Amino acid sequence: MLLDSFHRPAKDLRISVTDRCNLRCTYCMPFDEYVWIDKKEILTFEEITRLARLFIGLGVDEIRLTGGEPLARTNLEILVGQLSALAGLKDLSLTTNGIFLAENAAALAAAGLKRINVSLDTLNAERFRQITKRGELSKVLEGLFAAKGAGLHPIKINAVIERGVNDVDILELVEFSREHSFALRFIEFMDVGNSNSWKSERMVSKTEILAAISARYPLREVGRDQGTAPSVDYEFAVGQGDIGVIASVTEPFCSSCTRVRLTADGKLVTCLFSETGHDLKSLLRSGATDEELVQFISGVWRKRRDRYSDERLEALHSIQGYQSKDHKKIEMISLGG
Ligand code: GTP
Ligand code: 5AD
Ligand code: SF4
Ligand code: SF4
Repeated sequence: MLLDSFHRPAKDLRISVTDRCNLRCTYCMPFDEYVWIDKKEILTFEEITRLARLFIGLGVDEIRLTGGEPLARTNLEILVGQLSALAGLKDLSLTTNGIFLAENAAALAAAGLKRINVSLDTLNAERFRQITKRGELSKVLEGLFAAKGAGLHPIKINAVIERGVNDVDILELVEFSREHSFALRFIEFMDVGNSNSWKSERMVSKTEILAAISARYPLREVGRDQGTAPSVDYEFAVGQGDIGVIASVTEPFCSSCTRVRLTADGKLVTCLFSETGHDLKSLLRSGATDEELVQFISGVWRKRRDRYSDERLEALHSIQGYQSKDHKKIEMISLGG
């Protein structure tokens, strides 16, 4: 089995299919100097499918499609169809902002998509507009219900909580998700990319989020799915519901990180906080054989020593403290989380 320097296998492949997005969420979007990937540099569906097949050969068994906004890529269901036909793939999912979901959910499900994660940080339409700059809340809600109607399951809502912005929305999100049987995961605000002005004081910690919920609805810890998932899950002491917290800042999970990322322009990235990627596309387009591509991917993975969130926590606890700006990172919009 292919293992990195810390004996972590490559199990989950996150494929960004475009860096374009119809929203401009304040915690994600880079400033104006971001250079959008040129159209001709974007991997075709055939190129993505070929690489996915090779990753599966190396031990990957779950694929998640991301962006930017993945549904901004035309005919995404064709790619879903190609990937879902690959032997050895156990799970195929998508992370989306939900705006284009209503019109795409049925076709995606029919093509073989199993489940979906939808970003939704507030149920207040005005605040939704403030956070996303351009979005209409009603479109996301329509998308969520269309996904349910199309049989996608589970449907998870991802809510990034930022102090002073949407910490007031925690309970309403809980109640909405329980009422409609959506799973809900709160996400600690992270210092992804280079321009979201991250400060630890603006992050609402897992402890605070859980305190806010359990003061009203007592919770019982269930743990991480398969012991390794980013989210620590909870159930309610009374009644149904499925809640989780992704605490990448206060409780990092690098030691069990099996995620490998592929950018829309074919760069292999080994950590969400990497400074650069490894250019797989040039090799692919130079006529490389499957064996040569596998050699390249394996070489990169074997050398992998990433543990960024662990290091950040160590720095936050040190005398010097932690300076996010000291480290230039790939933008979230090119990596899809
Ligand atoms: P599931 O398979 O449903 O558990 O999805 P997921 O949580 O792995 O993926 P999703 O795209 O919904 O991401 C939710 C949040 O977790 C986003 O903010 C991601 O950036 C964050 N996340 C996912 N994987 C990692 C990781 O490896 N490291 C860190 N630091 N954050 C991650
Ligand atoms: N901190 C935490 N989560 C983030 N996401 C985007 N930017 C950040 C950030 N700075 C989340 C989105 C989406 C997922 C892919 O990543 O809300 O659900
Ligand atoms: Fe918002 Fe996701 Fe678009 Fe970033 S990629 S601006 S988080 S919708
Ligand atoms: Fe994996 Fe990097 Fe996230 Fe740690 S910070 S869990 S190594 S992607």
